[in-house]
Amino acid sequence: MLPKCEKWPMAIKREKREQHWDVGMNLLGEEKVQETKLLRVSHARIKLWALRAITTLLLWTCIVQLVAMGEVWGPSLLKSWPSCSSPPSMHTATNVSSIQPKRHYPPKRVYKNNGYLIVSCNGGLNQMRAAICDMVSIARYLNITLIVPELDKASFWADPSDFQDIFDVDHFILSLRDEVRILKELPAKLQRRIEVGMFYELPPVSWSNITYYRRQILPLLKKHKIVHLNKTDARLANNGLPLEIQKLRCRVNFSSLRFTAQIEELGRKVIRMLRQNGPFLVLHLRYEMDMLSFSGCTQGCNTEEVNALTAMRYANPWWKEKVIDPDLKRKEGLCPLTPEETALVLSALGIDSHIQIYIAAGEIYGGKRRLRSLAKAFPNLVKKETLLEPSDLLFFRNHSSQMAALDYLVSLESDIFVPTYDGNMAKVVEGHRRYLGFKKTILLDRRVLIDLIDQYNSGSLSWDEFSYSVKDAHADRMGSPRKRVMIPDRPKEEDYFYSNPQECL
Ligand SMILES: *[C@@H]1O[C@H](CO)[C@@H](O)[C@H](O)[C@H]1NC(C)=O
Ligand SMILES: *[C@@H]1O[C@H](CO)[C@@H](O)[C@H](O)[C@H]1NC(C)=O
Ligand SMILES: *[C@@H]1O[C@H](CO)[C@@H](O)[C@H](O)[C@H]1NC(C)=O
Ligand SMILES: *[C@@H]1O[C@H](CO)[C@@H](O)[C@H](O)[C@H]1NC(C)=O
Ligand SMILES: *[C@@H]1O[C@H](CO)[C@@H](O)[C@H](O)[C@H]1NC(C)=O
Ligand SMILES: *[C@@H]1O[C@H](CO)[C@@H](O)[C@H](O)[C@H]1NC(C)=O
Repeated sequence: MLPKCEKWPMAIKREKREQHWDVGMNLLGEEKVQETKLLRVSHARIKLWALRAITTLLLWTCIVQLVAMGEVWGPSLLKSWPSCSSPPSMHTATNVSSIQPKRHYPPKRVYKNNGYLIVSCNGGLNQMRAAICDMVSIARYLNITLIVPELDKASFWADPSDFQDIFDVDHFILSLRDEVRILKELPAKLQRRIEVGMFYELPPVSWSNITYYRRQILPLLKKHKIVHLNKTDARLANNGLPLEIQKLRCRVNFSSLRFTAQIEELGRKVIRMLRQNGPFLVLHLRYEMDMLSFSGCTQGCNTEEVNALTAMRYANPWWKEKVIDPDLKRKEGLCPLTPEETALVLSALGIDSHIQIYIAAGEIYGGKRRLRSLAKAFPNLVKKETLLEPSDLLFFRNHSSQMAALDYLVSLESDIFVPTYDGNMAKVVEGHRRYLGFKKTILLDRRVLIDLIDQYNSGSLSWDEFSYSVKDAHADRMGSPRKRVMIPDRPKEEDYFYSNPQECL
């Protein structure tokens, strides 16, 4: 087997960048000269933090040296330290766990444990992914032990997958052990406390800063020993957090959360098949029944479909908004583009009509009928079900999160990524692609587009005028470097941390 980094070109880039994150980590492994240079360029804040890290690491060196005296891996461990923070097992992912993991993973951080944190993530895969990054960062900051997060099995998606069915759990634990202790399950004697209800359960306040966790959650941990956070979406603020927390969020996200070998294998297969035929665009066409029902967007649906979507919304206890004016919502830019609107917009943007378009999505509502105009404008339309054999996908059936993981991998690798709605997948892929070197992501301005599309369809704009206006409106929305929009007191309206983790880029 080839080492992973040869198969995944992005892994190499990723690794290079990651070395900048952990300045403190780097220092110990580099020469003195490097050390001073690095220190000079860092901000004062990092300096302080780095100094703390150095002290910790120096202590560690002593311990490691003592323990390792005479053992072969001692010196090589020290030598490989600078890259500890990068995905270490990228080099030997196939057999890390079978041979000396000590050689590839950073040393454990030793700290006085303040308690145990159990978290139940809610939402779809990408919302949970962001939540996991947040929870690791919180656990690190509070000096507690994190139990491998439980994934949502009861939400709309009803995917029975556990953490280890989607993510490489050993890599997750080992690659973060220099920051926080993570266990697969509670130690047996604490398990008994759970059984008799001796723990505290709460949903943390949304968009909280770290002061909240220190002032409100830490005392609960100290008192009850075990705290269960039963909601995790958007529980940590986008901004106003210490730099090391922001960087840790990225690190979990980009290097510690790796999909299982099975998912990665299939992802590589799809990417290989697409690459054989040249460049490809991934269209995250969020036009599935759940999305339409939840958002109340019914543009282009027939009466029967509108009724089915409405009935589904009223039947779903999680979706609070029931009465929705679809036209108003669409005009405000709050609806995913329909397949027909998407076809117009891609053509107007001047996307080559022969490019392969991979549709990253579940089942498109209305099926072939609704895809007709898109398929006419872009005949090379594919999706995982057309590229892969049914036998390849068998394993993924009824596991929407694993399907989403596959689409995630393909989206990362695409030449152009176009989401038709800014859901969680769109946001995290956007951020990840920025991180991979500002790969082209077209962020559609739906409010502007809907207005232009309606004018074009009613004949008040010619094609050329329409195309020019669409291009003009998106010249600055191609995923190039920019600052995250921050709006104190209105976290819902500001840019999501994970869509542009500028602290890490
Ligand atoms: C581990 O992987 C490396 C490189 O992929 C290979 O050379 C080595 O033989 C493998 N070791 C075991 C025990 O499988
Ligand atoms: C966590 O541990 C570090 C030492 O590793 C200590 O400096 C810090 O104050 C601790 N924080 C909390 C919240 O216990
Ligand atoms: C979370 O815990 C609180 C307190 O026990 C409870 O009231 C609430 O219903 C729980 N929420 C969920 C989603 O389980
Ligand atoms: C954290 O949030 C609290 C209340 O939500 C606020 O009073 C405090 O100033 C915030 N702290 C920081 C460091 O932003
Ligand atoms: C998927 O779930 C449906 C019903 O929810 C069931 O009938 C079907 O057998 C399941 N398929 C697989 C492959 O597990
Ligand atoms: C989290 O992960 C996704 C993909 O890995 C990425 O788009 C997002 O920006 C990441 N967040 C951070 C904090 O880096």
